[in-house]
Amino acid sequence: MSARVLNGNQIADAIKEELKQEIAALKSRGITPGLAAVLVGENPASQIYVRNKVRACELLGLYSERIELPTETSTEALLKLIGDLNAKDSIDGILVQLPLPSQIDAKRVLPAIDPKKDVDGLHPVNAGKLMSGRPGMVPCTPAGVIQILDRSQIPIRGARAVVVGRSDMVGKPMAMLLLHQNATVTICHSQTRDLVAVTREADILVAAMGKPALITKDFIKPGATVIDVGTSRLTRAEEVRAIFHDSSGPLERLQAKGFILIGDVQPEDVKEAAGAYTPVPGGVGPLTIAMLMSNTVHAARLRRG
Ligand code: GUN
Repeated sequence: MSARVLNGNQIADAIKEELKQEIAALKSRGITPGLAAVLVGENPASQIYVRNKVRACELLGLYSERIELPTETSTEALLKLIGDLNAKDSIDGILVQLPLPSQIDAKRVLPAIDPKKDVDGLHPVNAGKLMSGRPGMVPCTPAGVIQILDRSQIPIRGARAVVVGRSDMVGKPMAMLLLHQNATVTICHSQTRDLVAVTREADILVAAMGKPALITKDFIKPGATVIDVGTSRLTRAEEVRAIFHDSSGPLERLQAKGFILIGDVQPEDVKEAAGAYTPVPGGVGPLTIAMLMSNTVHAARLRRG
């Protein structure tokens, strides 16, 4: 039997529909939530992400600023910009797109954002609040994964959840959110011994390590829910042939677009082995944007409402 597809676009649309009412209520009181999206450098994937985030603001009637800085921007210059955005009343949310160029010290930049405007939830204050179960800004992608599970009626309480990947932005907060919902949580990473044996225990498997198609059939317990957070770009035909069992369709798409998007989960295997799964694209990605909108509206309500 083929697995159930968890359609991220539909779930994200439902969340954005709900947000429209909250936005209308804020606007009736003269408050338009505002987001500043800061992009440093010319990473093509980051350019698309930031464009999509600003576009989502426009579609919902939020105020937005897209601020693009050159690759050689210094840490000091970025800190100055963040200080200005912190002080600006029309801006409720500040998002600094990652990764930053290597000369910029992200460990100084992210804590400079006012925690109340930290819609990415990456400030140590918000990370600490999440850890200790206090309300705060939660990173968008893991928050979106919880929305997918909840709105698809996939039970979390008591489930064995395995998160592969330990980043500050996805893996660690994902594990905390699942734990707060009473899953039994294991975090795996590049040094995990016998990864297959661990992931095969998972009722809910979240793949967030950024390794294209690493999770093949063997890694998946039959019937498990598989959430794929990875988005890598394949640009070479050999890579596509090495990953897909039937590469004819993907190779056509590669020819047409110059790249294909692939998650951390082998897309053909997951259909056979999983009970439910998020596709790439069209799974977790749309939720990241919907939750950014939600965090921005939430930040506006807390700060100005
Ligand atoms: N880079 C990839 N995903 C994200 C995200 O959700 N937020 C930020 N700031 N950078 C990213």
